[in-house]
Amino acid sequence: MNIAILGFGTVGSGVYKIIKKANMQTQNLSVSHILIRKNKQRVLPEMTDDINEILNDKATDVVVEAIGGIEPAHQYIMSALNHGKHVITANKAVIAIYLKEFTDAAQANNVKFYFEASVGGGIPWIQGLEKALRIDSVNSISGIFNGTSNFILDQMSRNGESFVDVLKKAQALGYAEADPSADIDGYDIANKLCISADIAYNIDIRNHQDLPIFGIRNITSSDVKFFQRKGCSVKLIGRTRQIGNKFDYVVETTLFLNRTLEANTPDNYNLISLKGDTIGKLDFFGQGAGMFPTANAVVQDILDIKEQKCHLKREFDKKLEYCPELTKDDYL
Ligand code: NDP
Ligand code: HSE
Repeated sequence: MNIAILGFGTVGSGVYKIIKKANMQTQNLSVSHILIRKNKQRVLPEMTDDINEILNDKATDVVVEAIGGIEPAHQYIMSALNHGKHVITANKAVIAIYLKEFTDAAQANNVKFYFEASVGGGIPWIQGLEKALRIDSVNSISGIFNGTSNFILDQMSRNGESFVDVLKKAQALGYAEADPSADIDGYDIANKLCISADIAYNIDIRNHQDLPIFGIRNITSSDVKFFQRKGCSVKLIGRTRQIGNKFDYVVETTLFLNRTLEANTPDNYNLISLKGDTIGKLDFFGQGAGMFPTANAVVQDILDIKEQKCHLKREFDKKLEYCPELTKDDYL
């Protein structure tokens, strides 16, 4: 499979490195293009600054969007789908607005649009939620959805470091968004709640519907230490519920007793929980931000597409034995 990577920052370069890993060679994945900005130096032979070169390359099967933001990410994703390419993205900001448009375009063009890495980084949360929905109604979802804010609160409680210093560390580690206000003011969590609620409640939720969103900008290390002395940890939590045909969500700081799972979610980890009728409460735990956990989820999506393609090819080859007049178009 030939893969084009749009953007070569934390996630894009992580995807490239995983695909190039020695033990991945058997998977027959190859990076055909890497889209960089016009003013950037091309340090790898796959690099280009021309999106049309990628869109018009018939040999490119999958486009991984890793530039972030709304535009031109939205336009590139739509163009790739309309050029018959599978698209994978970790960009929750663009999905929270355009999920329906992307899934409709993917369906119309008979290609896949996957976005596992957009919520929970390396945690297979979207898959887990979709599996839960095969049996259950899921009417409530909650948890720690942002690695950067969790890292900041955790480091402040462990080392008493200042908010500003720990935020700088989170940026250097590749956890934070290009504009970290999305992480610390709660909007990144709101985007992830929108995507999760969209899937769970099967409704088209556009992001930030005037629902309450609070962040951690004003929390100091002495606040965190004070809560610690009282046996509690402060966490930035997202919660959504569906009641009848209505839904809500909130992003707010919450205190947890030190023995709880939430209080023991460290570093850049996320802890996301759903409640289903028969499964009960189900918790998903793992690294929610960072180069390799996120890139891992993206490459898992690529491998899912590859497996489906191989399965279709095997089915087609079987049919071909009986109907030799079939063409490649019948298989696609
Ligand atoms: P980075 O800022 O590290 O990387 C983005 C890259 O894309 C940069 O190299 C940027 O170049 C480049 N870029 C931006 N616009 C264009 C353009 N128009 N054409 C070509 N290149 C462009 O971000 P991340 O890799 O961290 O994040 C990428 C996406 O993944 C975002 O949507 C983010 O929300 C999501 N994500 C990130 C996670 C993480 O842990 N980092 C986890 C889960 C999701 P330049 O530097 O010049 O601006
Ligand atoms: N900035 C995001 C976070 C990246 O810290 O959780 C993962 O979505």
